[in-house]
This record gives sequence, structure tokens and C-alpha cells, in this order.
Amino acid sequence: MSKTTLKEKIDLQKLPVHIATIMDGNGRWAKAKGKIRVFGHKNGVKAVREITEGCAELGVPFLTLYAFSTENWGRPKFEVNALMSLLVETIGKELKTLNDNNIKLKAIGDLSKLPGRTRNALLNAIDQTKDHTRMTLTLALNYSSRWELTRTMKSIAQKVKDGQLDPDQINEHTIQQHLSTHDIPDPELMIRTSGELRISNYLLWQLAYAELYFTDILWPDFTRESLYHAIIDFQNRERRFGKTGDQVIG
Ligand code: IPE
Ligand code: IPE
Ligand code: MG
Repeated sequence: MSKTTLKEKIDLQKLPVHIATIMDGNGRWAKAKGKIRVFGHKNGVKAVREITEGCAELGVPFLTLYAFSTENWGRPKFEVNALMSLLVETIGKELKTLNDNNIKLKAIGDLSKLPGRTRNALLNAIDQTKDHTRMTLTLALNYSSRWELTRTMKSIAQKVKDGQLDPDQINEHTIQQHLSTHDIPDPELMIRTSGELRISNYLLWQLAYAELYFTDILWPDFTRESLYHAIIDFQNRERRFGKTGDQVIG
């Protein structure tokens, strides 16, 4: 099937408003080629460009990429350091692309624990792209959902303690407003590569009603076409939100 045919199958009126991705399989991709894991991470950058440009071209307004989890600190130091350096390098290289394409960069996660160089590169890119409006690209960096929910509960508890908030008034909206994603809509489509069938501590609250899409493709091999396949799959699903199929069609 040619590229255009696949892209043309996408209904542009029914695009997911927010796609969240777990970029997985870099290590296995490298291993299959007889290379070290870091080689896989370096080659994953191309796939980041593919999905970012693919989403921007179609008109998907929000894309969130899981780049480093709080659990990933447990990897060998050499790999963690390489990932942090790769981030600095990539942000530096891609800043122009973000600016040229009117893409706003954001980050969620505990950035205070990142090495200074990584944090500075990130904050600089966030600042330089803050007025862009075509798409918001969020990097989940030193992120985990349990970290985020714990922090959310702490800040709500503090407001109650300070007398700014009445516990009777806490509802789903209050919680949503205290998440690090308070200013972006919940993902409608979550893509995980590499064949793993789990969420790995990613956006647990926000994914409550997302459509989950799992593919065996390893992250460095993920292309625009892989994105198109995921979106077409999403568009063929019946999203019922607890109702009956007849109600949804009606
Ligand atoms: C995803 O690929 C990248 C990060 C988690 C940073 P992995 O590094 O997890 O690759 P596998 O799962 O070991 O193949
Ligand atoms: C999830 O991938 C985290 C990122 C993609 C950054 P992992 O490879 O770390 O997840 P597990 O260990 O397979 O659950
Ligand atoms: Mg993995």
C-alpha cells in the first residue's frame, strides 16, 4: 500500500485530540543488531521526529512521549548518563524544528532531579517555544503516575489544611486541576511499541478512557506509517463510555 493511500484512510474530522506514547524497545532493537543499548536510544530519536511531524501534519493538537520514568534510574549508570546526554543533544538539535513548525514543548515529571545540563536545555527549549500554537509536545521525563498522584494529593491536602479548600468540594475536576497535565486534555489514544502489554506507571488517571494500542514494532522502527495504522485502528473502534452500542450509534 502506498503512503498516500494509508494517510488518506484517516478521517481528519475524527483525529484523537491527544496521543500519548510509551516509546519502548530501543534496547532490544540494538541487541538484535549486535550493538549496545545506547545505540538503540540514539536511533530512537528519528522515530520521535517521525511521530512529532506526523501528528503536526495531520493536525493532532497534543502529543505526549514517555522519555524517562522514575524507575529508569535503576538502569546501569552508563545507560542513564547516555540517556541524559542524548536528551541535551536532541533538544539542542530539534529546537529549530520545533520553532519552524510552531510546536510548543512542555515537560511533566520531577525535573528537579535531572542533571543540570539536561534541565537547562529543557527549560530553555520550553521557554523559547512557549508561544507556539500548532501542537503541544509534552515529554514525560523523570515521570511516573504514582509520583504525580502523590504530589497531587499532597497539594490538595495542603490547601485543605490552609483553609483554602473544603473537602466536600473536592471532585474529579479538583484532582484534574492539580495534575501536571492540568492544562492538556486526557489522551484519547495511547500507543506502546515493542509488544509489551502494560502501562508502566504512565498517566494512570489520564488514561482512564483512552483507547490502548499495542504494536510489536520496536521504537526505532516506528514511522509515520506506524502512526497512521494506530490512528486508523483508533478510528474504527466504538468508544462507548459505559453506554450501549445502540446508544452510541444513535
Ligand atoms: C525505551 O526503550 C526507552 C526508555 C525506556 C528510555 P528500552 O530502553 O526500554 O528498550 P527495551 O525495552 O529494553 O528493549
Ligand atoms: C517505560 O518503558 C518507560 C519509558 C518508555 C520511558 P520501560 O521499558 O522502562 O518499562 P518496563 O520496565 O518494560 O515496564
Ligand atoms: Mg523497555
